[in-house]
Amino acid sequence: MFDRDPLYLLGRPLLFSLTAERAHDVTMGVAQKVASHAGLLGFVRSRYGVRPSPILKQTVFGLPFDHPIGLAAGLDKDGMAIDFWPAVGFAFVELGTVTPGDGQPGNDKPRLERIVQGQGIVNRMGFNNRGAAHLAARLAARKTAVPCGANLGKGKATPLDRAPDDYEATLEAVWDHCDYVVVNVSSPNTPGLRDLQAVDSLAPLLDRVVAVNARRAKTAGKSPRPLLLKIAPDLADEDVDAIADLAVGHGMQGIIATNTTLRHELAARPPRIAGGLSGPALAPRALALTRRLFRRLDGALPIVGVGGIRSADDAYARLRAGASLLQLYTALVYEGPSLVKKIVKGLERRLSQDGIQSLTAIIGQDA
Ligand SMILES: Cc1cc2nc3c(=O)[nH]c(=O)nc-3n(C[C@H](O)[C@H](O)[C@H](O)COP(=O)(O)O)c2cc1C
Repeated sequence: MFDRDPLYLLGRPLLFSLTAERAHDVTMGVAQKVASHAGLLGFVRSRYGVRPSPILKQTVFGLPFDHPIGLAAGLDKDGMAIDFWPAVGFAFVELGTVTPGDGQPGNDKPRLERIVQGQGIVNRMGFNNRGAAHLAARLAARKTAVPCGANLGKGKATPLDRAPDDYEATLEAVWDHCDYVVVNVSSPNTPGLRDLQAVDSLAPLLDRVVAVNARRAKTAGKSPRPLLLKIAPDLADEDVDAIADLAVGHGMQGIIATNTTLRHELAARPPRIAGGLSGPALAPRALALTRRLFRRLDGALPIVGVGGIRSADDAYARLRAGASLLQLYTALVYEGPSLVKKIVKGLERRLSQDGIQSLTAIIGQDA
């Protein structure tokens, strides 16, 4: 479908001969090696890097973005290869989800499955991570200047009524070293987590996070970190509206839509494991939800669109539906590291064909 990068065409059969999780671990090992070696990083940047483009530049929730494509949460949960992602073109990087203390091992394997027919992935990783303090140290040591976000979650063993304590602890740990913060209440693989999206649970949780953020900002003499809420695609439309209102009323600076879906009937074949489905099958719902959110928010907050984006056409449609920024994960697995550059070039082409001078002019045009 896409003219793939020859290097990735060589590597892909090898990676796809491994289990999905082993392939992930091998890829992360390579990314980490490259990130720590100036010469290799320079080679990767020269091959896959993206030049800043005036037409795609924006400031969103107070942060500068060279273009709208970022790495979605979950691929580099512990920030082991932070400097690698900008070298393959990403304009921003989201790390995590992290949980308090030393983190947790996540669910038993198998917990990751490729659905190759539909270019999808199903995962039930369960927030395997080394903890928020470890991520903070990785963020502190990064060299890249692109905005880096920390995505926060609750530990598996924490009861739901104590969830705000976990978000407070993780925010305390990462505050100094991240550029934005994501309150993740939408992963399907931590029992009960999505229940935090109910208005009665969400309001006190967001109030706590806002209070910690304000306190840390005051002590540091800096601006508060932009706070974003990441939501699930499986919410009813009325709940999406209620959450949008709540996010505006309770101090959020943006909404990320969406996490993975539990609707396995959307997959190209029945998945073998439980968990959340990502990739193109998720795109129609994520697109519709972006449109609905944009209408409801009416400009009050920017939207980060994620879910099944794998081409410049997808990206263009998601921006027109109302997203100011975009993220991807699954398409990177199937298309390889040249994908970001391809999407950015395609977006530039589309904008100049349509005679548009700035990306912001198209955001929400189809909503
Ligand atoms: C293996 C895997 C692990 C993920 N882990 C997280 C996570 O820890 N936190 C989170 O907010 N989203 C996580 N996600 C969801 C992605 O960030 C993204 O919202 C979703 O995959 C849809 O985008 P995509 O279709 O481009 O992959 C994960 C996705 C995958 C495939």
